[in-house]
Amino acid sequence: MTRIAVLPGDGIGPEITACAVRVLDAAHPGCEFVEAPIGAAAITATGEPMPAATVEICASSAAILFGAVGGPGYDHLPPHLRPEAAILGLRKHFNLYANIRPARVFPGMEQRSPLRPELVDGMDLVFVRELTGGLYFGDKTLAVEDGHEVVRETLIYRDNEIEQVVRFAFALAQMRGKRLLSVDKNNVLLSSQLWRRIAIEVAPEYPDVTLEHMLVDNAAMQLVRDPRAFDVIVTENMFGDILSDEAAMITGTIGTAASAALGGAPDANGFGLYEPISGTAPDIAGKGLANPIGAILSAAMLLRYSLGDDAGATAIERAVAHTLAHGPRTRDLDRDGGASTTEVADAIVAQLAVVTA
Ligand code: IPM
Ligand code: MG
Repeated sequence: MTRIAVLPGDGIGPEITACAVRVLDAAHPGCEFVEAPIGAAAITATGEPMPAATVEICASSAAILFGAVGGPGYDHLPPHLRPEAAILGLRKHFNLYANIRPARVFPGMEQRSPLRPELVDGMDLVFVRELTGGLYFGDKTLAVEDGHEVVRETLIYRDNEIEQVVRFAFALAQMRGKRLLSVDKNNVLLSSQLWRRIAIEVAPEYPDVTLEHMLVDNAAMQLVRDPRAFDVIVTENMFGDILSDEAAMITGTIGTAASAALGGAPDANGFGLYEPISGTAPDIAGKGLANPIGAILSAAMLLRYSLGDDAGATAIERAVAHTLAHGPRTRDLDRDGGASTTEVADAIVAQLAVVTA
């Protein structure tokens, strides 16, 4: 039986992950779901954000379905004891270096974008964010020097780390519109100069893909100017963290944004971690208001990228598209009303039966 590790975590994580499990089970029956604590919930239960027992459950699973981690009250802790250390730690432990973050405007959703509808109609891009290197994983120190607090954080990239994620992005571009944009800060950072050089070096091996380059500040601007101009965007860890939130918001809400973290080629059907990118949303946690679609679309990505069930993934995406167009919708997408988290999940499960009939 295919085992899926379910790590709900904190904030809205548990309520939206429960919806994702229901939809996954309906689209692809027969998986075994094993739940384990992570993040602040794990700190409360075990004293650690990423307990060894949780990592073991993940290691014996085909994939991880992840909710969100973080919470108030941990800001005073050193980075390795914060809830966020759990997600960074899992990515690193399983070498999940490539993070796929699609940003797509579903039909009928143009009106929800903060941009004019005609600018986003048909927007469909995907980020490949490098996920196990760069500034988030380098050494950090805080010292007092000459009476001043001084922090040093290290941005490290090895050529092979850049090469593997750039190759991943080329392969994904081959499966889509065959256009790859590499985003860097080549005019200032040495790491970006290496990044750009490697992208240029491997490009001839993907002759059907057009490679372009853009500076990150310009990319932030072009995303709001003309988001439909993009296909696949590959970039380093921190730039990808920031730009993927921007792109998600352009689609109208971060509540529908899904992601996959993989450690092999996009068509390898290997182990992966799947999570909505919305975070814990502490202001609405536990109230049944959260949009479950980011988690549900992450479950669809799990079917596609880890279980090789493209039909199941497509069925979920069609059920989501239908539900977004016809409702019910949570209040991030519907200011006049606003259905509950479970009402939206119920509608998607019901629609799944229709699209697969
Ligand atoms: C994300 C989040 C995480 C990240 C945090 C929670 C560590 O912002 O997945 O984008 O920065 O990667
Ligand atoms: Mg983020």
